[in-house]
Amino acid sequence: MDLTRRQVLRSSLAAVAAARLWAQPGPRPARILLDTERSRAILDRRLFGSFLEHLGRAIYGGIYEPGSRLSDERGFRKDVLQEIKQLGVPIVRYPGGNFVSGYNWLDGVGPRDKRPRVLERAWNSIETNQFGTNEFIEWCRAVGAEPLLAANLGTGTPEAAAALVEYCNLERGTKWSDLRRQHGYEKPHNVRYWCLGNEMDGPWQIGHMTAVEYGRKATDAARQMRMVDRSLQLIACGSSNPGMSTFLEWDRQVLEECYGVVDAISLHCYYSNAEQSETKGEAQRYLALNLNMESQIDQVVAVCDYVRGRLKSPKKLWLSFDEWNVWYRARDGNGNRQEAPRLLEEQYNLEDALLVGGLLNSLMRRSDRVKIACLAQLVNVIAPIMTSPTGMYRQTIYYPYAWALAHARGNVLDIVVDSETYELSGRNTTVVPYVDAVATFDASSKSCCLFALNRDLAREREVTLHFRDVAPRRVTGFETLTGRNLKAANTFENPQAVTPQRLEPPAPGSTMRVKLPAQSYSLLRLSMA
Ligand code: AHR
Repeated sequence: MDLTRRQVLRSSLAAVAAARLWAQPGPRPARILLDTERSRAILDRRLFGSFLEHLGRAIYGGIYEPGSRLSDERGFRKDVLQEIKQLGVPIVRYPGGNFVSGYNWLDGVGPRDKRPRVLERAWNSIETNQFGTNEFIEWCRAVGAEPLLAANLGTGTPEAAAALVEYCNLERGTKWSDLRRQHGYEKPHNVRYWCLGNEMDGPWQIGHMTAVEYGRKATDAARQMRMVDRSLQLIACGSSNPGMSTFLEWDRQVLEECYGVVDAISLHCYYSNAEQSETKGEAQRYLALNLNMESQIDQVVAVCDYVRGRLKSPKKLWLSFDEWNVWYRARDGNGNRQEAPRLLEEQYNLEDALLVGGLLNSLMRRSDRVKIACLAQLVNVIAPIMTSPTGMYRQTIYYPYAWALAHARGNVLDIVVDSETYELSGRNTTVVPYVDAVATFDASSKSCCLFALNRDLAREREVTLHFRDVAPRRVTGFETLTGRNLKAANTFENPQAVTPQRLEPPAPGSTMRVKLPAQSYSLLRLSMA
């Protein structure tokens, strides 16, 4: 039977429509525009710092375990020390955290058999004081990290904080510097970075006070500490998290008191995927939380610059994001008056590691103002490294952190990322890009790294990289952290459940097509030489 012209037309239109449908175009590739001469910031490697508190098994049974066959003659766990040295952690905050607000540093120095055993009131634990400031500095030197000491501005006085600076940093010939020498440390420790207390806005904090009270105490402490050593870099306590009712107002009032005598303000935040949290346990919401970190940074920057303007100060403050991580499961902080109790031993899964990757991306993107950041914490307590008396293993969050430490160098590039987005409904609808990427470029080695989070839980995402100035000549590595099960975690029994996998390297050139697996955090390393 002959088909009429109309029938032919109709059937061919249907065929085109069907072909379109079957072709399933899939997601539009994301595009990233890179120019190695367009830099957002010079990367301060202190952005990848960490934190060790006298809390749970972080110190005792974590980095320090005298008598263990795994420890050296100083009691330092050799396996842990080696791991942290090889990670290259640049700076470590110590001794707290909430702990510092009730800590008398004099309890932790001098002959060990004379050090008191005290009831530690932040975590209701027994503190033996067998590890203190000098051991920490020695440990830092052994792992190649710089110390970031916190002074007690809870129960501690500005005078005691200045005495600790004198103990640590003066050569000789004064009460406290000579005490250090008597304790066997001839040379000064030269500690440059100091936190003026910890989370003093929190009602849970020992010595909690109002913003104005704290601002004045911090000013007094800063003046006395600087009188001892003019070269110090001092960090005032900002809000302990953006959920505080006093968030930003605390920061403003504190800075109006102490702006002239400090160099930076601290930010803290822990992220949660609990069913009752803002993520409601949904992975796509959870993986967007690093964008909240960026808003928090932007808001605190705005307050700093507002106070700067009001005071007509030539000085621009930098930010110290000195506590950040995922933390929502192991929240019980009662040590029941035990020595080194198991506290805050959070077990991390794949989705936590993906968010940690995103958080590292956010820190790098804001590294024009954030100069120090500390993954809280380092060993056993909400940590990438877990120990037992016989060994250790790496949690999932170890891997994105290790990549940043090993490969993010030089400048953070001012890249343009154009990605498809998804919407999160809530009080305000949030639009979230599937692909979250940051690039660094190290001019001395001519190497460029791309750190990319793919928040698409179902589909691989293709990304086209357009290099404007120089074209990569070689792909020196392409790895990813991914898996089908977002809840998969590493344990002592199965320490390799979540580890990075190699990906097929894309062809190098001024335009490159890169495939990011669904629910993944990936690192692409390129050489321009
Ligand atoms: O890192 C654990 C605790 O979290 C710290 O001691 C405190 O500063 C924060 O609230």
